Amino acid sequence: MKDEIIDLYMDAGGIAAKVLRHGAGMVKEGASLLEMVESTETMVRDEGALLAFPLNVSFNEDAAHDTAAPGDTRTFARGDLVKVDLGVHLDGYIADTAVTVDLGDHAPLVEASRAALDAAIRTVRPGVTAGEIGAAIQREIELQGFRPVANLTGHGLDRYDLHAGSNIPNIGIAGGAALEEGMVLAIEPFATTGSGRVSERQRVEIYRQISTKPARLPSARRILDVARKARGLPFARRWVGGDRVEIGLAMLVRSRTLHPYPVLHDVAGSFVSQAEHTMIVTADGCMVTTR
Ligand code: CO
Repeated sequence: MKDEIIDLYMDAGGIAAKVLRHGAGMVKEGASLLEMVESTETMVRDEGALLAFPLNVSFNEDAAHDTAAPGDTRTFARGDLVKVDLGVHLDGYIADTAVTVDLGDHAPLVEASRAALDAAIRTVRPGVTAGEIGAAIQREIELQGFRPVANLTGHGLDRYDLHAGSNIPNIGIAGGAALEEGMVLAIEPFATTGSGRVSERQRVEIYRQISTKPARLPSARRILDVARKARGLPFARRWVGGDRVEIGLAMLVRSRTLHPYPVLHDVAGSFVSQAEHTMIVTADGCMVTTR
């Protein structure tokens, strides 16, 4: 990998780390979700980067893909377990990082995903398979008395591409592709008190454009304008202005122009924690970009 590209990955990682600390710091009892999300997304641009996806803020048994809706009135409450997942990029070179903020008494669960991430990072080097990293994650989470979420994975990253190459599972699986020097990975263990599998809610806040087709409906045109600016990366319903956005989104999903990302949840009443870093695989290990 060229030095200039490494620099962009490292700089994006530094910005992501700083902005994530700001966002996580705004997760306080009684604080507004919408204000926290808008403030954090604005800070990304103020730092000279762009969002690689809408700030994900997912509560309690929800593991991922929630964010503030337009005019969202939700606030953070005592007892909440809040995952904050941020993706930023510089010229397409992405940093993806997440933390869990505990407004209750979930310290061991938060620690489980964090320790699993550390264990995974220690495992990363050329020749190691994705399955071996997953085994390290699973071992650490189970050691702490929780379950890994089996159907959520980390992922390779490439320019303007959030899911390049092979996935990094959160459970031990046989084989899988071996890591190579220069690969960029986002590893994101999820630990849960629930079933260890997530399913889709009805609620969708995040979409991504997957094909180009002309649209006549004004709201569909505004949506595709937002999608175009995202350059193939995900965007939020909240980013689209004007009325009849729901109808436009539904039409574009039906015509397979947009892919929807429903909120992913474990069973009701359970709690899910997450930790995530982005890293570049080096000759003898890896360089974490998002610390
Ligand atoms: Co990620």
